Amino acid sequence: MRFPATIHDLETPALLVERARLEANLLDIAGLCRENGVRLRPHVKTHKCVELARLQHEAGAEGLTCAKVSEAAVFAEAGFRDLLVAYPLTEEKARVLRELAERTGARVSTVADSAEGIRGLSAAWRDAPEPLPVHLKVDTGLHRVGVPVENAESAADLARGIAEARGLRLAGLLTHEGHTYLAASSEEVARIGREAAAGLVALAEELRAGGVETPGVSVGSTPSARHSVGVPGVTELRPGNYVYHDAIQLSLGTAPLERCALTIWTTAVSRPARERAACDAGSKVFSSDRGPHGMDLGGHGIVLAGDGACDEGVRLAKLSEEHGWLRLEPDHPLRIGDHLRVVPAHACAAVNLAEAVWVVEGERVLERWPVAARARVT
Ligand SMILES: Cc1ncc(COP(=O)(O)O)c(C=O)c1O
Repeated sequence: MRFPATIHDLETPALLVERARLEANLLDIAGLCRENGVRLRPHVKTHKCVELARLQHEAGAEGLTCAKVSEAAVFAEAGFRDLLVAYPLTEEKARVLRELAERTGARVSTVADSAEGIRGLSAAWRDAPEPLPVHLKVDTGLHRVGVPVENAESAADLARGIAEARGLRLAGLLTHEGHTYLAASSEEVARIGREAAAGLVALAEELRAGGVETPGVSVGSTPSARHSVGVPGVTELRPGNYVYHDAIQLSLGTAPLERCALTIWTTAVSRPARERAACDAGSKVFSSDRGPHGMDLGGHGIVLAGDGACDEGVRLAKLSEEHGWLRLEPDHPLRIGDHLRVVPAHACAAVNLAEAVWVVEGERVLERWPVAARARVT
């Protein structure tokens, strides 16, 4: 097959990544981290793509964050040497992680939030030549996993438990302040970001005062990145979505439309009524996820007009597996065979369904990047 010259040579549906926007997003957050003396360890679950991770490193990232061990394996095998699996692991998974580290030479680290979790990690690493760095996972308000930040006593017990367990060492405290996604305003996002970071720093100081060596304070969520990065005492930032900035980020005010780097390129296949049409990208392309942590955009994405602005006359209202249901203003000119570019509601969920993304400059296709870690969920 000949390499497509323009997006009009691509079969739809296809995922497009606007190169200039991607680079601006990478440089923006890398610069923010540099200015604040904070290490950038981006989360790869958004893009799952080796080429993109290389660009993140060129822009100044140190190490990567992964969601699962099998996701980390893709990046370890591609030569990345510093991988944090920010997910609570069972003993069985910890053994797989150790095998990965021994096979590839990657330095790996992880998190724990329970005595059982610590025991499992220790059982898998007790006779390893180097201790496994483990962050205590702290819940600063998302209420998903982690020891509650208010519960300093439990946090101290668990932190000591990690520090004293055979085969482990305490790397620090870590939170994902994902409750920013449920904020009602930009002011609330900023407040949550600052409070989560400050709460984590205060807990680290309390642990240190109690004699527990707690080197790192790691925070991470795209909406709060620019608010938490400047909180004194934060050592590491782990944003994921910032590479693409999807429609959710737009709705939260994290980024303007000109920074939304990922679009879904789709074709109108039916217009059975003046106010209704269907396109060839459904839930098997967008995913049914309207946003992280149960957030809801009120649609599945933002349809762009030919000039790249938001097309107010079309709404991607509903998805079935292979069809996107478009609601149209009755006089909208959309015809069967026309193409649309749509900023997806949740980029991370859409990318995981694709074999590759096409890197573009406007309509010109530059590169094809495989989504090498797609469906790596174990
Ligand atoms: C543990 C952890 N760290 C960092 C992130 C990155 O957050 P975001 O996608 O908002 O950038 C996530 C996202 O789910 C996460 O679960």
